[in-house]
Amino acid sequence: MNYKFADRMMTIKASAIREILKATADPQMISFAGGNPAVDAFPVEEIKRISAELFETDPVSILQYGITEGDKDCLEEALKFFNRHECVVREFDKAIMTSGSQQIMEFAAKCLCNEGDVILCENPSFLGALNAFKSEGAILQGIDYKQGEINVVDVENKIKELDPKFIYVIPNYQNPTGMTMSRKSRQALLELAVKYDLLILEDNPYGDLRFEGDAIPSIKSMDETGHVIYAASLSKILAPGMRLACCIAPSEVIEKFVVCKQASDVHSNLWSQKVMAKYLKECDIEKHIERIQKIYKQKCDLMYSEMKREFHKDVEFEKPTGGMFIWVTLPKHINMNEFVKAALEKKVAVVPGNAFLDDDTKECHSFRMNFSTPTDEKIKQGVKILGELSHKMN
Ligand SMILES: Cc1ncc(COP(=O)(O)O)c(C=O)c1O
Repeated sequence: MNYKFADRMMTIKASAIREILKATADPQMISFAGGNPAVDAFPVEEIKRISAELFETDPVSILQYGITEGDKDCLEEALKFFNRHECVVREFDKAIMTSGSQQIMEFAAKCLCNEGDVILCENPSFLGALNAFKSEGAILQGIDYKQGEINVVDVENKIKELDPKFIYVIPNYQNPTGMTMSRKSRQALLELAVKYDLLILEDNPYGDLRFEGDAIPSIKSMDETGHVIYAASLSKILAPGMRLACCIAPSEVIEKFVVCKQASDVHSNLWSQKVMAKYLKECDIEKHIERIQKIYKQKCDLMYSEMKREFHKDVEFEKPTGGMFIWVTLPKHINMNEFVKAALEKKVAVVPGNAFLDDDTKECHSFRMNFSTPTDEKIKQGVKILGELSHKMN
């Protein structure tokens, strides 16, 4: 059979991470390639108890179809939760529960972009979002962003030149760089969005995984004119397997998302929404978040100090203040892809940095390391192997 796929599928490849994760099925492999929560970060006992209670008291309510916008209790509790430290829900907003925030990326591109429209994004940025945008026919254009500061002139020039549909950013503990955007840059982006009547898609799955420093207000909380779509995921705080996120945005945008969702999966899993609603209502989520922040801080400290000791002095990396990732840049004379390949042969997996670029054929000397998933022992062993390679290949 000659399978004739749509043109738009030609621009997206199987995710480099998925391919590497396949290699990590080998039990000998030390994987710094994933982005999963730590195995001891799940509130298993509470989720078990709540699930049992729901099945005991009202099984039909969790097995039946639900409404597209989301289960009323779940939506209410999620909004209360995401609004607890700052105001991210305005009078002009509506909200929808989605199947992870990945679905918000897809809906944003589907609802806002025609074939060939441009989306501005950090460069590098989250691969899953970039693939979702590309699969809807959008074209990605990276913006100049270093050490938490957006180059405002560059962004403004690109807005004027390319007339993008929206700007996609992950201001807190970004995937893949671990970088956090300054308050000044957040404000500047919002000012540009207002000036050019442009939307910002603010993706904040890691905001609560802060283990150092003070929180910086979200762009959504600064927005008084309806220029921000806010993607608030529950995956990294509670459990990605529940596939739940909440999108908060001006009502006109959410109304389009509702139509999209009806055509996509009708509604998010009602079972996990009911469990989530009860969890948020009855359990001490702040205590849970404090616990996981401690786990990630300890793992990040360990990985960073091992890297400091083991890596060649010319290898560059910075310690993030939250999230799950450390971004590593090799000296220019080391070929990053050869380094990643050699690491894989020695049974250590990291993700090549070009996978996260607006154009993955661009030259790249960086790779991403994840500290949330591996055990302490694996962190020590894997960093030692990468360190030896960094000296050998230098
Ligand atoms: C920046 C970013 N956004 C969105 C997602 C998608 O998360 P989910 O669909 O589980 O909410 C991820 C997952 O790794 C991510 O890193």
